[in-house]
Amino acid sequence: MKLALIGSNVKKSLSALIHRNISFKLGIDLEYKLISIKKEELKDTLEKLKKDGFIGFNVTIPYKEEIINYLYKIDESAKKLNAVNTVKLENGQWVGYNTDGEGFCESLKYLNISAFNKKIILFGAGGAAKGILGSILNQKPKEILVFNRSFDKLEKISKLFLEFKNLKISNNLKEIELQDFDIYINATSVGMTPNDEMMIFDSKILNDKKILYDIVYIPYKTKWLRESKHTKNIEGIYMLIFQAILAQEIWNNKKILEHIDIQELKNICIDELI
Ligand code: ATR
Repeated sequence: MKLALIGSNVKKSLSALIHRNISFKLGIDLEYKLISIKKEELKDTLEKLKKDGFIGFNVTIPYKEEIINYLYKIDESAKKLNAVNTVKLENGQWVGYNTDGEGFCESLKYLNISAFNKKIILFGAGGAAKGILGSILNQKPKEILVFNRSFDKLEKISKLFLEFKNLKISNNLKEIELQDFDIYINATSVGMTPNDEMMIFDSKILNDKKILYDIVYIPYKTKWLRESKHTKNIEGIYMLIFQAILAQEIWNNKKILEHIDIQELKNICIDELI
């Protein structure tokens, strides 16, 4: 099976490692090619992949939106978010999907965490945050507050999820009572290498009943998670692994989650990161 990852700079992607391991577990011989291209090369790249026998690919920064222009159709998961991270060749045409949000929620399920009736704060309003929000709202949290430093993206989010009355927005951290939540999700790039010393807020103040999920996975454990000693802390590698498994389910057209040893896959990734 021939798959690929398309982005602007994908030389050091963990996705290749994850997909090779998943395919190995499934007994599938996989070629997973890393393709770094400029925006103008997207159209030709997609044609070439088709000609060369690729049956699908992942899309990463900064082409998750741009790629839509070159796809035959996109499914509901990608339409609402206007972003695609997984593409499959169906009847000779490229079809786009988005597994980011569902990957996040599947990882919560795996870790026995329910968002139902919980008070949640989500930091960030970019592509990743939107995906997470779309999926987590379906789990009926009591309230979800989205914080972002710039207001324009928050307004867009408000419009996108207008039907959810339990969704609130803020761009002023000072007016937020930070102790007030059950689940804290960092979906910004704050704390990502090379800015390892940055935190979205000082997590030391939180107590042991809280859950912290940082979607940043480089470094493997961000300062925001490291400084919060009493809470249940979840590393971004989980979301990365689950969105990859869901992409594999699309490409293989079957459920595969039960065949994957998540802890083993996580350890393989950690070995690569540390
Ligand atoms: P992604 O697709 O990974 O979500 P993105 O769409 O560029 O990437 O979004 C990045 C998010 O991280 C945004 O919410 C951004 O906030 P702004 O909308 O205000 O730019 C947030 N972010 C990045 N650096 C940040 C920083 N230093 N402080 C606070 N938020 C930051």
